[in-house]
Amino acid sequence: MRAAFGERPDWEVELGFGKGRFLVASAAADASRPFLGVEMVSKYFRLAARRAAWRRLSNVVLLRGEALYLIATLLPAGMARTVHVYFPDPWPKSRHQRRRLLDPRTVDLVLALLDPPRGRLFFATDHLEYGEAVAETLALHPAVAVERVAAWPEGPRTNYEAKFEREGRPIVRLVARLRGGGRASLLHPAGRDDLLVGPAGGRRASPGAL
Ligand SMILES: C[S@@+](CC[C@H](N)C(=O)[O-])C[C@H]1O[C@@H](n2cnc3c(N)ncnc32)[C@H](O)[C@@H]1O
Repeated sequence: MRAAFGERPDWEVELGFGKGRFLVASAAADASRPFLGVEMVSKYFRLAARRAAWRRLSNVVLLRGEALYLIATLLPAGMARTVHVYFPDPWPKSRHQRRRLLDPRTVDLVLALLDPPRGRLFFATDHLEYGEAVAETLALHPAVAVERVAAWPEGPRTNYEAKFEREGRPIVRLVARLRGGGRASLLHPAGRDDLLVGPAGGRRASPGAL
């Protein structure tokens, strides 16, 4: 990829690409840009890999694994011009909500992928309660400005979005843009409180206290 796209490629990253409809069609439509997809279900990962191979795409990298784990361990911070998160599992039961891909505890990891100051996060869900929760999480984040959009520009859609658009189902669509600024400002206030770095005089300490 470096040979084709230079030392610092402007990656388009999709987390949880499912069957890969959006990722593969987007890569096919713009060979000048590199695309990276992350999906944890093997069946979908293999299907998307076959689709990319069938189209002979040389600008797509697919990773099978849990997105937050791969961001924390493998993917370089600031690598992405755009991060796409479309119709992530909403985990509606409150006891399961900690499994959500995007929430106050995980938002810093996801935003850390974005290349400052231009990076953008695109998010969509048909689960309106989850959509409002993500909108609030992003609105409270000091590092981003968030806006709601009624529709995306013309272009490829994910499987879920294509289906829900046909059905006329309401969808929350959000675009978050980095405001720029230092690393510390990338921490969400709620997520930061969850980062336990060790006891300080018997009290809970957060990185902001260091
Ligand atoms: C509801 S589907 C939506 C698929 C696709 N984004 C779409 O809009 O058609 C959610 C997808 O995200 C994947 N996924 C959920 N959590 C994930 C995680 N933490 N890491 C990687 N993939 C994840 C699931 O396996 C599933 O394929």
